[in-house]
Amino acid sequence: MNNIIVTGANGQLGTEIVNIMTSGRSELGQLSSFYKNCNVIGTDIDDLDISNLDKTIEFIENNKPYTVVNCAAMTNVDGCETNIDGAFKANAIGPRNLAIACEKVGAKILQVSTDYVFDGMGQSPYIEADMVNPNSVYGASKNLGEKYVREFCNKWFITRTAWLYGYKGNNFVKTIVKLAREKGFLKVVDDQVGNPTNAADLAWHICKLIITDEYGIYHCTGRGECSWYDFACEIVKCFNLNATVEPCSTEEFPRPANRPKYSSLDNFMLKLTIGDEFRHWKDAIKEYSKNVEI
Ligand SMILES: NC(=O)c1ccc[n+]([C@@H]2O[C@H](COP(=O)([O-])OP(=O)(O)OC[C@H]3O[C@@H](n4cnc5c(N)ncnc54)[C@H](OP(=O)(O)O)[C@@H]3O)[C@@H](O)[C@H]2O)c1
Repeated sequence: MNNIIVTGANGQLGTEIVNIMTSGRSELGQLSSFYKNCNVIGTDIDDLDISNLDKTIEFIENNKPYTVVNCAAMTNVDGCETNIDGAFKANAIGPRNLAIACEKVGAKILQVSTDYVFDGMGQSPYIEADMVNPNSVYGASKNLGEKYVREFCNKWFITRTAWLYGYKGNNFVKTIVKLAREKGFLKVVDDQVGNPTNAADLAWHICKLIITDEYGIYHCTGRGECSWYDFACEIVKCFNLNATVEPCSTEEFPRPANRPKYSSLDNFMLKLTIGDEFRHWKDAIKEYSKNVEI
């Protein structure tokens, strides 16, 4: 039996990955039979705080995993601006500790990262070779997490994703649905462009990647790009909500953390290796609207 450890297993993505690995199925298809011989160990902060080096090494040495998939993170982008220590502990020290521990037992590590490692000043989708330049505490902490994983473990994958929504937990889709129902009127920024990504699609690609030796950085986002405003309009349409959505600018809706203006990612390395099977963001949100309860 191969042990696979999923950290942050109570979060949006961690939940999805554990579900797919244990059922062997996802919205995108049947997983490799490799997973029939795997024992999936989901952990979260209550069982293992990945920012504690000794505890992390002990946990990994006890379980001797084939792979660790690190979905644990501090994902509150605005909260990171004021809790800088917390952000770097969870998003940089945590993955560093896992990478050190994985190297000790010869395990692979997959670190989940973000489009916020880019400054968003580009005008065409970023590929994996493009220079990072984070402009928020969250982005900087995730960027350091990437560096540490590359530095401390030989067998690493980094998957950068964006605008993620899963069945478990809170996300933009659920917020828009709730606000549309409560207020019937929404203003949403239309000057930030990115790629809405269904957690099921990301989980599928992560499961495919980790059983290969195709190490490296991967952009893993839903196909096509849009603004938050476009995304909100599509959500209102898919959920058949009776609400008006109006575009507004980032200046009209200031937030503590800077957001990249244009952070669309090109899944270039996926196309060159295991294949890019991400659904178009409109198809993925349509399917999600049929299956989720909000
Ligand atoms: N959400 C997005 O839009 C988005 C976009 C781009 C990239 N990503 C990346 O995708 C990954 C998964 O995101 P997600 O949305 O699934 O996150 P999530 O729902 O916030 O889940 C993260 C989980 O990690 C746990 N955690 C936090 N600090 C920890 C620690 N020190 N040790 C162990 N567990 C810890 C959290 O527990 P608590 O809830 O108790 O803190 C939570 O259960 C993250 O790496 C994130 O940076 C997310």
